[in-house]
Amino acid sequence: MDLLTPDKTHDESRQGEAMMLEQTAEKYNGRKLYIESYGCAMNFSDSEIVASILLDKGFETTKDYNNADVVFINTCSIRENAEQRVRNRLKEFTVAKVKNPGMIVGVLGCMAERLKAKFLEEEKLVDVVVGPDAYRDLPNLIDQVDDGQKAVNVLLSREETYADINPVRLNTNGINAFVSIMRGCDNMCSFCVVPFTRGRERSRDPQSIIKECTDLFNQGYREVTLLGQNVDSYKWKPEVTEAAEISINDIAGVNFAQLLEMVALINPDLRVRFSTSHPKDITDEVLYAIAKYENICNYIHLPVQSGNSRVLDLMNRTYDREWYMERVNAIRRIIPGCAISTDVIAGFCTETEEEHQETLSMMDFVQYDYAYMFMYSERPGTLAAKRYADDIPEAVKNRRLNEIVNKQRAHSHLRLQEQVGKVQRVLIEGFSKKSNLDYCGRSNNNAMVVFPVSENYKPGQYVNVLIDRCTTATLIGRVV
Ligand code: SAH
Ligand code: SF4
Ligand code: F3S
Repeated sequence: MDLLTPDKTHDESRQGEAMMLEQTAEKYNGRKLYIESYGCAMNFSDSEIVASILLDKGFETTKDYNNADVVFINTCSIRENAEQRVRNRLKEFTVAKVKNPGMIVGVLGCMAERLKAKFLEEEKLVDVVVGPDAYRDLPNLIDQVDDGQKAVNVLLSREETYADINPVRLNTNGINAFVSIMRGCDNMCSFCVVPFTRGRERSRDPQSIIKECTDLFNQGYREVTLLGQNVDSYKWKPEVTEAAEISINDIAGVNFAQLLEMVALINPDLRVRFSTSHPKDITDEVLYAIAKYENICNYIHLPVQSGNSRVLDLMNRTYDREWYMERVNAIRRIIPGCAISTDVIAGFCTETEEEHQETLSMMDFVQYDYAYMFMYSERPGTLAAKRYADDIPEAVKNRRLNEIVNKQRAHSHLRLQEQVGKVQRVLIEGFSKKSNLDYCGRSNNNAMVVFPVSENYKPGQYVNVLIDRCTTATLIGRVV
């Protein structure tokens, strides 16, 4: 086709498109969307994509589900109690729906994907069930409900990254934002539902990531957290087409260390965080990138799950105790003072008392700054559910978890005490939870710091704070 000749058919279809847009805008205009999120940061980030898709169609958001036309709950399946929380919340929505029968209730996210159409039978008030890769279909699914049907789309995708969608920031302080860099997970940790609820791993193209982060910085945001279930396996390769002009750099693709550098270079005042790092995949190249750039925060979330090699093998984590310790030593060597946090599971199938002790001794070895600690919860369909008996009694799991929690409390406190008397660079996030006379913000190491408000600085700015003292969870100081 001659590119210079106006294309009539194209113009006509554009007019048709404009008319359709007007009609759809009318159809959705002013309808109120309420969305609530559970689970990991990825889910919170997805809700911002969902909001963007619907706001584009003319919806407005509301913070009160009682006056919403569409109520979405973005769900998590990671442990049984996560699902229970969602079911309890749905009961509360039932009350609102009795008052407002036209209200559409939708279940999104991991529980939607796990239970699929079964959800509609189990929870009568639910009208629509949508899996994490099907959010572009939401307007269409809402139409189906408007027509009096129930609607389900739980198709998983190998390509969807929502790269072109500009997320609408929900509940934002205008300073920190999540940016998804990949979706899904290809690791088959035997305890975990995520590969089943989120599908295959895929990386988002780096250009759209850089654009999103740059736009955020230009809007005043000062911290981005790059999200993926396993950021270290981020790998983007361009599609090689004959027509495209490709530089050597393009052909080689972009790995996580290179992506980190690209984001860090946007502006030295943009802090870069990331989560989650997998011990089997975190490379020295990533550690050197963190060490090289002042604005890549010295904080690594490196879930250990267990300190015992036999249990790690049953968990299919594909590293052992020695490998994990070596990675921690590499972090200590390449990024001195780097904070490390972890996830721990207590009472995995067949875990003995000695093996549990090895988790505690691993904690002593690393002295984590922070930890998320859980009792093992068997999830239907996972490898562990199929292969191993969930044979540790609840009371034993509970006692082991308590030992882990107590140890972590001591270590977290110790890590904070080490900062007393030192100066920390803090990004001010807003007033502290307890008082409007204090600001709070995070140190580079991700510790929460509280200090008195002053007219000379405001949220979004960096200040140097001398730490005077600490509680078990917070550093307290003054600007110097
Ligand atoms: N992708 C991340 C973890 C995502 S899930 C990673 O690989 O580390 C977050 C945490 O939930 C996991 O690290 C694990 O500690 C915990 N978890 C996952 N499945 C669980 C289960 N069945 N029972 C208890 N805890 C679980
Ligand atoms: Fe789950 Fe393992 Fe994937 Fe993390 S890496 S999401 S724990 S399967
Ligand atoms: Fe939960 Fe799904 Fe995240 S199961 S932890 S919301 S990926």
